[in-house]
Amino acid sequence: MTQDELKALVGRAALDHVPGGAIIGVGTGSTVNRFIDALATVKDRIAGAVSSSQASTERLHRHGIAVYETTQVERVPVYVDGADEIDRRGHMIKGGGAALTREKIVADLAERFVCIADESKLVDVLGRYPLPVEVIAMAAPQIARRFAEQGGTATLRRNGEGAAVLTDNGHPILDVRGLVIAEPRRLEDEINQWPGVVTCGIFARHRASVCLLGTSEGVRTLVF
Ligand code: 5RP
Repeated sequence: MTQDELKALVGRAALDHVPGGAIIGVGTGSTVNRFIDALATVKDRIAGAVSSSQASTERLHRHGIAVYETTQVERVPVYVDGADEIDRRGHMIKGGGAALTREKIVADLAERFVCIADESKLVDVLGRYPLPVEVIAMAAPQIARRFAEQGGTATLRRNGEGAAVLTDNGHPILDVRGLVIAEPRRLEDEINQWPGVVTCGIFARHRASVCLLGTSEGVRTLVF
């Protein structure tokens, strides 16, 4: 199966984790897009969605699915999202699609985090994928220097025209290469203390409850 077929497979499989009548949390990215398309086929069974990005909101609206603000919802039973990497304890690196801050906010409202990913995302130790960190622009150089002290190389994410990529919140992103994240919870907590960090792309405090992993043999379910 192609990577795209694996994404479609886990996108459909996630429907089994969507309780009827509920408002559910919806993440961002190409795998989640497949989930949103699958959700559209059962949209009358849910009350709506809370979205983690403008891109997902637009896709949900195109399918006629009601989208609520996080301010309108106290809890959601489930949050479905992809990951750039996931380890065997459910810790993730996220933010490849620049939506990490809103993803963490919606994940924080959720009882359960259902991660959907193809098998290329499963790793023993996080860090091969560059760690995204959303920052306040004026602090970017000093945050980059702190990462250098940890053995990482932080670069500002740029688009094809060379302009800094800005998140839905209007902030730039540093992508940090060269980290070996053996203790995700400890590093997440440390980075969160640095002035100017908006959100660190380590999801350890908000790790997955379950991962639906797309493999050539079908969907493998990892429970954490
Ligand atoms: C966006 C994310 C995505 O979940 C992550 O980048 C995975 O995306 P894809 O499903 O396209 O591989 O964190 O900020």
